[in-house]
This record gives sequence, structure tokens and C-alpha cells, in this order.
Amino acid sequence: MLNLELIFNKIDELKQLGSVNNELDWKDYNFAKNFYNNVARNNKQTDSETKFIIDKLRLKSDAKILDLGCGGGRNCFDLSDHGYKVTGIDLSEYAIKEANKTKSENNKYKDINFIHKDILDINYNEEFNAAILIFNHFSSFNNIQVKKLLKKIHQALTHQGKILIEISSHNQILSLHGVQEWAILDSWLAGYFKQLVLIDNIVDNKKEIHIRKDYCVRLSDGQIFEYTQTSYIYDLEKIHALLRLSGLKLIQTYGNWQGKIFDDNDDQMILIIQK
Ligand SMILES: C[S@@+](CC[C@H](N)C(=O)[O-])C[C@H]1O[C@@H](n2cnc3c(N)ncnc32)[C@H](O)[C@@H]1O
Repeated sequence: MLNLELIFNKIDELKQLGSVNNELDWKDYNFAKNFYNNVARNNKQTDSETKFIIDKLRLKSDAKILDLGCGGGRNCFDLSDHGYKVTGIDLSEYAIKEANKTKSENNKYKDINFIHKDILDINYNEEFNAAILIFNHFSSFNNIQVKKLLKKIHQALTHQGKILIEISSHNQILSLHGVQEWAILDSWLAGYFKQLVLIDNIVDNKKEIHIRKDYCVRLSDGQIFEYTQTSYIYDLEKIHALLRLSGLKLIQTYGNWQGKIFDDNDDQMILIIQK
């Protein structure tokens, strides 16, 4: 039997030390694998996203789309099914391997191009009609990186090209401050075994960062694995300013994939931007 009191004391100790910094890294093969096997979005959600993308970005039938941080390629495959030419880029070796595996299993996807690369290092010149960044990873970039990324995307897009960025809303992130969640899971970031997971959130609005800590306690032996995820907070004002600097403009903000116009009660923002 595990001694829960000992475990809680150990977690408290770790929190006070605050020094262990296993920052989640998409380049880490096992982290990416665990992420995709635990929290990847399903086909129904992907379908809604595809309809939204085609409708709100007003894509012509021959449009070329750049999926930045494409993961296992779920949006690329769905958009390709609708006849679009898609290039998916991701930093994770695991994600691109999975994407290429699915591609090789079906001849109809032979035109999709998957590239294992950091999206901050792309170099395209007016080749794409649209770029998408879906499932919140935009907030993993700090201010300097966002400026670089927007410049690269601007360069990659054709005249009046569109960008779609999905990001957690400012209010949603602020509301997470101090929130703790407990769960017993068969698999999570630490791997595929039964574990007790504590998720702990700290939001520092002044520094504009959200730190999420996951403490995963392996139930077989009480070993604790600690992970940190740092996200940067972007409100609409800051987004407007960053876009202006990059020669881009925000044309609409939605609060969900069903096309509701964003207001402060929404948890997510889906930004539609134009070059
Ligand atoms: C939350 S997942 C979303 C994946 C996919 N867009 C989806 O909706 O299923 C974020 C993805 O962004 C990728 N990513 C994060 N930073 C990146 C970077 N600098 N360059 C390329 N890909 C990156 C990660 O490897 C991961 O696959």
C-alpha cells in the first residue's frame, strides 16, 4: 500500500524546491507519444474544424494550406480529403513519423507533404493561401518568437492570404490560477501505467505567463515524475499589436468551432487574420 501522506508531503517539498524543471518538450519522443495517445482530438472534432476552416478562411478549391505544428496530421488528412494541397510541419519526430505512416497507408494522401522542422525556421515565399495553427501551441512561443513566427508566416502567404490561430482566451487562463486537479489515470505524461496525477496551475499576469505543473505518482512504487509547461498569455490587445508589427490584421475572432463570435466568457479564441 502506498502511504499517501508521505506522497503529499513529497509533492509539497517538490513544490517548495520549485527547481526541478522538466519542461515539456515536443522534441522528446516519449512525451509526444504520450500526448498523442492521451489527448489527441477525435474525428468528429476534426470534421468541425475542417468545415470552419473552409468556410471562415473562404478557401478556393485549389488553395494551398500550411499546417504549422500539424502533429499526427489529422487536419492535413481531412483538408486533403476536401481536395486542398497541404503541407504539415512539426518539430516532433514521433508526430511526423505517425503522419507519414498514415499517409503511406492510403494512396489518396500522396500529395501531402510532411516536414520535420521547427516552424520558426520555415522559409517560404508567397507559396500558401492559408496557414493554420490549431490546438493552442501558439501560446508556447514568447514575444520574440511570435514576432519571428508572424514574419515567417507573412512571407509564406500569397497576397491577402489568411491565417487561423486557435488559442486559449485570456480570461480562461486567468481563471486557472491556483486551480488544482487530481486524477487516477492508466497513462499520462509519465507513461503507460496507473498513476495518481496532480495538476497545479500558477498564473502570473504581470509576467504574462501560465505555469502548469503535473506531478505523476506511479502507484506501483510511489515514484514521482514532475513536468512543467510554460505558456505565454496573449490577450486581444497584445495580439493586435503583434499583428500590426508584422503587416497582418485581425479580421474576426470566434469563441468556438461552431462559429460563435468571441466574447469574454469564451474559453478559446479562434483568430482569423489576413495578410
Ligand atoms: C497541441 S499539439 C497540436 C497538434 C495539431 N495541430 C492538432 O491540432 O492535432 C501541438 C503540436 O505543435 C508542435 N510544435 C510545438 N512547437 C513547435 C515548433 N516550434 N515547430 C514545429 N512544431 C511545433 C508539437 O510538436 C505538437 O505536435
